[in-house]
Amino acid sequence: MEEAIKVDSLVTHYGERQILKNISFTVLRGQTTVILGGSGCGKSTLLKHLIGLLQPTSGKILINDNNIAGMREEEMNEVRKKMGVLFQGAALLNSMTLADNVALPLREHTKLEESTIQIMVRMKLDLVGLSGFEHFYPSQLSGGMKKRAGLARAMALDPDFLFFDEPSAGLDPVTAAGLDQLILKLRNVFKVTIVVVTHELPSLFMIADHVIMLDMGEIIFAGTLDELQISEHPRVRMFLERKPEAEEYSPEDYFKFIAGD
Ligand SMILES: Nc1ncnc2c1ncn2[C@@H]1O[C@H](COP(=O)(O)OP(=O)(O)OP(=O)(O)O)[C@@H](O)[C@H]1O
Ligand SMILES: [Mg+2]
Repeated sequence: MEEAIKVDSLVTHYGERQILKNISFTVLRGQTTVILGGSGCGKSTLLKHLIGLLQPTSGKILINDNNIAGMREEEMNEVRKKMGVLFQGAALLNSMTLADNVALPLREHTKLEESTIQIMVRMKLDLVGLSGFEHFYPSQLSGGMKKRAGLARAMALDPDFLFFDEPSAGLDPVTAAGLDQLILKLRNVFKVTIVVVTHELPSLFMIADHVIMLDMGEIIFAGTLDELQISEHPRVRMFLERKPEAEEYSPEDYFKFIAGD
């Protein structure tokens, strides 16, 4: 299978702090790759590198064989036209209707006629099950509908790549499962290459073709779902079995703790 994204020896810092420590992996075209890992391990940071929002300290990020690390902004904007992004809050503009939110990338990046834009917006809203809500404002939508609307906007330019940061966070299990179905559909019908950060185990098992698990800025697992399930890495096991972080108290600390000082 063809490589769509290749990350090679990626190192990144926020100030003095090293966040990603020499990470390498590949994302295959047409697959859904899920990035797992505990809070604060660098998942969102990694996603921001993949869409060129952050520049690494060193290493390469090849998107369709083009290294975007250190790429000029104009060139990066061309690459971004092929990318749809859905961040955690859906990031819809509250002053605009749903239709205008979805039309935004089309108005910014294309010179299509207004009538064509209207048709494309309808198609995208239909794709995510929001037909008839064109004139609603984001404040009039539920959390799940906002996520769907964000997805419609991410799909506006028919991207080759979709990047999602915790798409089902904060949704009820049924709504989250609906969103997972939609992600599957985008892969199956539109052959989009998808990278998803998620914490949700049911989503992981529903949508992932390939899994990458980060821990403290390093990759501790990369493989298929089947391989993940038989991985013996203790951090992988803790994550899958939902075990809490072991709290290691010395007896001395413990007695201090119960004595209240
Ligand atoms: N803009 C920033 N400036 C400085 N430090 C940052 C910045 N963004 C994130 N960090 C730090 O980098 C580390 C990784 O953050 P990141 O947001 O990538 O984690 P995450 O894996 O997405 O966590 P979560 O699951 O909670 O969303 C954290 O320790 C965080 O404090
Ligand atoms: Mg995050």
